[in-house]
Amino acid sequence: MPKAVVVPMKNHLKPHAKSKGDRARRRHKPAPPPALPVRTGMSKRKIIEESRRWLSIINAHKLNEYKRRKIVADTLDNFRFYYNKGYLEYRKSVTEGGEFAAIEWSGRGSYFEDITGRRFIDCLGGYGIYSAGINHPKIVRAVKSQLERMPLSSQELLDPLRGALAELLGELAPGDLQCCFFINNGTDAIEGAMKLARLYTKKPGFISCVRGFHGKSYGSLSLMGKGEYRLAFEPLLQDTYFVPFGEADAVESELRKAEAVGMAIAGVVVEPIQGEAGAIVPPDDYWPRLREICTRYGVLLIADEVQTGMGRTGKMFAVEHWGVQPDIMCLGKALGGGVMPLSAFMSTPEIWKVLEPNPFIHSSTFGGNPLGCAAGIAAVKPNDTRSDIRDR
Ligand SMILES: Cc1ncc(COP(=O)(O)O)c(C=O)c1O
Repeated sequence: MPKAVVVPMKNHLKPHAKSKGDRARRRHKPAPPPALPVRTGMSKRKIIEESRRWLSIINAHKLNEYKRRKIVADTLDNFRFYYNKGYLEYRKSVTEGGEFAAIEWSGRGSYFEDITGRRFIDCLGGYGIYSAGINHPKIVRAVKSQLERMPLSSQELLDPLRGALAELLGELAPGDLQCCFFINNGTDAIEGAMKLARLYTKKPGFISCVRGFHGKSYGSLSLMGKGEYRLAFEPLLQDTYFVPFGEADAVESELRKAEAVGMAIAGVVVEPIQGEAGAIVPPDDYWPRLREICTRYGVLLIADEVQTGMGRTGKMFAVEHWGVQPDIMCLGKALGGGVMPLSAFMSTPEIWKVLEPNPFIHSSTFGGNPLGCAAGIAAVKPNDTRSDIRDR
């Protein structure tokens, strides 16, 4: 295995010289990160030179040892001084022993490599984005072909890939979940689902689950069942109520209470299998009962399939394990085939009607862009051996 590299910090960022005593102490205990120096200020010429240097790195086929070591040092400095030094303290791959940094460089299938050539087995799957593996050749090829033709949408003409992927998902999704809207992150999908539910039901409230995870923008954070992510940002959306995951009776009791006191609930938002909470599978009758209860109380059942969707649990969508059709379904992560950011929320033609009189009531500049949709189309069945597209 190649040796870890230790390289000096960029000169213009050095906070102060280290004494011999400092260095001796560091051997025993990782030094605390240096205080942020006042930015020394690069000239405009230096900034342009720096961007040229990085471009040559991006476009290089091979990097010599010196350049690789410099990338390690620069990445540490850049995270420390310009991005967020908290990552250096938090990530084990950066701080282990205080002595080396693993800088991600390439990946293929179930492996990735750092810039010094160390190989890692990918046991994390990029939090669920790599269901097709890293750098899947068919998906990469589709994106490259589209990239050379038209990278992003003009915003004026109709782009065919958005329609094509909408059709594929509309045909794949359970029941009559036929219509969809594309965006880029899981949290965007949840935001859209919440707005759609409010628009359709004309009610404000939501029920979600303790330890549930739906994203970190304001709407989705309001549904977050983990105090550690919410507290600093309170007050979040009002009218959100939490029940234990896996207990359909708790949802029913919350809805009964809401009805009795006149609180209007638009939807119940639940992950089919809780992901962040630790892969928690609910009892078999949970989803069928949620479906029945939501229908009886006239509230929308919203399935957050951001993590479980696109085959992650052995079915295309996890709700299919229980034969349940939600009213709104959110997708993300693996939808872009591990190559492009892509997410979506889907619903029935009946519910979708409220978005049609003014389609710009909910829109996004980059949502449904041709690169994302090309990736999504290829990711529907990445290992399709009958495909007439030859892999690289
Ligand atoms: C179930 C679920 N919903 C939503 C999200 C938010 O997705 P993103 O981080 O892409 O915004 C996540 C992310 O882990 C998730 O697991």
